[in-house]
Amino acid sequence: MRLFSQRAFLRMCRYMRRAAFLVCSAHIFERVPGTLNTMKVLVLGPGGREHAIIRALLRDPEVTEVHSAPGNAGIAQDVPVHAIDANDPAQATALARELNADLVVIGPEAPLVAGVSDALREAGFDVFGPSAAAAQLEGSKAFAKQVMEEASVPTARAYVAKNAAEAQAALDEFGAPYVVKDDGLAAGKGVVVTEDRAAALEHAQACFNAGGTVVIEEFLDGPEVSLFVISDGKNVLPLSPAQDFKRIFDNDEGPNTGGMGAYTPLPWLPEGFVQEVVEKVARPTVARMAERGTPFVGVLFCGLAVTSRGVRVIEFNARFGDPETQAVLARLRTPLGQLLRAAARGEISEGTELDWDPRTAVDVVMAAENYPGTPRKGDAISGLDEANALEGVHVIHAGTVVSGEEIHTAGGRVLAVVALGENLGAARNAAYEGVRAISWAGAQYRTDIALKAVENRIHIPAPRD
Ligand code: AMP
Ligand code: GLY
Repeated sequence: MRLFSQRAFLRMCRYMRRAAFLVCSAHIFERVPGTLNTMKVLVLGPGGREHAIIRALLRDPEVTEVHSAPGNAGIAQDVPVHAIDANDPAQATALARELNADLVVIGPEAPLVAGVSDALREAGFDVFGPSAAAAQLEGSKAFAKQVMEEASVPTARAYVAKNAAEAQAALDEFGAPYVVKDDGLAAGKGVVVTEDRAAALEHAQACFNAGGTVVIEEFLDGPEVSLFVISDGKNVLPLSPAQDFKRIFDNDEGPNTGGMGAYTPLPWLPEGFVQEVVEKVARPTVARMAERGTPFVGVLFCGLAVTSRGVRVIEFNARFGDPETQAVLARLRTPLGQLLRAAARGEISEGTELDWDPRTAVDVVMAAENYPGTPRKGDAISGLDEANALEGVHVIHAGTVVSGEEIHTAGGRVLAVVALGENLGAARNAAYEGVRAISWAGAQYRTDIALKAVENRIHIPAPRD
């Protein structure tokens, strides 16, 4: 088995010899810390992405224990949860010490930007998730643009505007459709794409009023792709590309959300696309971050547009995407704990072939009433067992909480129904069968997740200069 690197392989051989010795010489088959190559993993974060990560970790034969903080109602059914503030470096480190965790996986962006991975690394833990400095690739769009420029990574032309006059000048330079982005963490909701110049200016002004700046960009035509690239700081390994659905309503109408559904792989992508993104985007970005003295260890989420001028980066995130992860990890057969530990230790080997379930995965998010505005909470959810009992279907929890005997809604995106199918149409049908089994007052979901791809209606614009 050539997993991840020669160093890791040699270490594994050492451990296996040691394990064989222990088994032969005594009945010591429980985990002895530091002897067998097993691991106890702590996953930080409360959402659907973390639930999907935890389910995948539990399939890894080397993962002996998984803990979650703070988790949610669905996660609590699978692993022990710990009620801490996972965005607080001191609390996260104290919990990792108490558990004697071998690996800490940081799910969301907030703890990354708050320096949780720095604190954990300093305390000697293997951590999957970039430092606060490296997480600025997501935390500041202006910083991401700067790094892309330095690394010659293709992206939309952009201006940073600090006041209304600068914003107006930039909008007029690019013309409609207008793209205005809050230059800070906004969970995917700080971006306005509109034909309406007044609405574009209004969004910019709201950001200025809140003390921020905005990034104004040229509009990128063409379908979007989310590609997650695992990085150990030097070497990169791409996962299977996915597509997300950002708007709240069918036909990509209404405001942006964190994402309302996803599917993977993408049958309409040109051959060689993933390798092209690795060469033109991921590798130069990771190399540039290392040169800057802030190596990126974790998952570089490349949000891409396949435009008439070639692939362009829309944004970087410093973490797995939600809800793409629910679909992507449902297909991953390579043991996830070993992969993330290899990244945390700087032991990714670029030749590693990841093993994927040949089926297609689709997930559909069910959200609470009024999401992406302030969501209605506290409604009892029914039908979870029925959905989970369907062939190839499982439910990933996000904003859920246990209330007596019931599970209640507790956030905007409440859960995602994930289905694996022999083809995209079958996976999609199965996911929607699961969705129809589940209900609560005010539940909303899109009915067109993956539909265009099933109907062959996704087109990459014809090339132009
Ligand atoms: P972001 O937070 O930068 O990912 O933007 C959220 C969403 O806004 C993206 O997924 C796109 O749908 C859209 N978007 C962002 N930037 C552009 C752009 N330059 N051109 C077209 N659409 C964009
Ligand atoms: N689904 C997009 C994101 O996680 O930002």
